[in-house]
Amino acid sequence: MESVNNSMDGCDDIQGVLSTEVKSFFDSAPPLKDYDHFSEKLKLFISQNFQRSENQNSTRIVCVTSGGTTVPLEQRCVRYLDNFSSGHRGATSTEYFIKSGYAVIFLYRRGTCQPYSRNLGEETFLEYFEPSKGTEIQVRQSHDEEVKNAVRDYHTAAEKGMLLKLPFTTIFEYLQLLKLVALSMKCIGSGGIFYLAAAASDFFVPWDSMAEHKIQSSGGPLDMRLIPVPKLLSVLRNEWAPSAFYISFKLETDSEILLNKADMALKKYGMHAVVANELTTRKEEVVVVTSNKKITVRRCHQDEDVEKPLIELLIMQHSQYIQQKQLGNAYLS
Ligand code: PMT
Repeated sequence: MESVNNSMDGCDDIQGVLSTEVKSFFDSAPPLKDYDHFSEKLKLFISQNFQRSENQNSTRIVCVTSGGTTVPLEQRCVRYLDNFSSGHRGATSTEYFIKSGYAVIFLYRRGTCQPYSRNLGEETFLEYFEPSKGTEIQVRQSHDEEVKNAVRDYHTAAEKGMLLKLPFTTIFEYLQLLKLVALSMKCIGSGGIFYLAAAASDFFVPWDSMAEHKIQSSGGPLDMRLIPVPKLLSVLRNEWAPSAFYISFKLETDSEILLNKADMALKKYGMHAVVANELTTRKEEVVVVTSNKKITVRRCHQDEDVEKPLIELLIMQHSQYIQQKQLGNAYLS
C-alpha cells in the first residue's frame, strides 16, 4: 500500500485540478441523494477490509461498474434515453472476484442483473417458492439446488463483508458515485482495481438546460440538444485514484474497428488493460488488450462463463502490477 495509514487519513480531502468541463458537469448535476449514507457505507466497508487482510499490503478491493446509465429528458423525469446493457458482465465478474478473495464494490444500475441471482432467469421470485403445509412456504423441488446455492453464496459473501452494492440510474448519479468510490479507494493504492464494465451514456442533456416538466407532445417535433458527457477516465486514472489498476471495456458492433479502438483507449486514458468485446459474441469471447499483447479469452464450453478465465487472467496481471509497484517503491527508498 502506498503512503497509507490505518486511519485512512487523506482519503477524504482530495484536491484535484478538474478540467472545466468535468468541473461544470459536477457543479450543475443534481446532488446525489443519500450521499452521506453511501459515503459512510464506503468508509466502513474499506476499513473493515483493511482489518480483515493479514496486512495492509494484501488488501484487494475492486470497484465493478455494471449496467447502463440513463439520460433524463425532463427534470421531473417521465422520459429518458437508455441502453441495452443487462449488467450480466458486471454481476458475473463480481462473483469470480469474490471467489478469488477480492472485496467488491458493485456499482450497478437499478433493476439489472445481480451477483448470485443472475442465473435465476426472468421468473419472479414468486415462481421459485410454493405454499406447503398450512401457512408454510417451501422452495419448489424443480428449483431447489439453484436457489439454495444462490442464497448460500450470496449470504456468505455478504456476511464476510466482501460485497457492497451501490445503485445508480442516471448518468448524473453514476458519475458522482464513481467519483465518491474512487476518492474513497485512493488509500488502497495498487491493491485497488477499477473494472469499468458499465455502459455509460456518451451524450446527455445538461441539468440546467433541461425542461422541468413533462415535455408536451402538442408542441410538435422535438428538437433537443445533447452534449458529450465529459471523459472522466483520465481524471479517475490520474487524480482520484492514481495508483489503482485500471481495466476498461470497449464495445463495438463492427469487429473490424474493435481492436483498434481498444488500443486507442488504452493509450489515451492510460488504462492497464482494455477488454474488447463485440455485441453479439460478448458472452463467448473477449480480447484483453494491454500495452504489449492482445490475448483472446474464450469460454471452454457453453455452460461456462467467459468471465471465469477473464477474471483469472486479470487477477494475474493485477498481481504482477502490485509486485512492480512494490519493487519500484523499494528501489526508490
Ligand atoms: O451488461 P451486459 O449486457 O453483460 O454487457 C456488457 C457490456 C457489453 C456493456 C460490457 O462488456 C462493456 O463493453 N461495457 C463498456 C461499453 C462501452 O463501450 O463503453 P464506452 O465506450 O462508452 O466507454 C469506455 C469505458 O469507459 C467503459 O469501460 C466505461 O465503463 C467507461 N466510462 C465511460 C464513460 C464515462 N463517463 N465513465 C466511464 O467509466
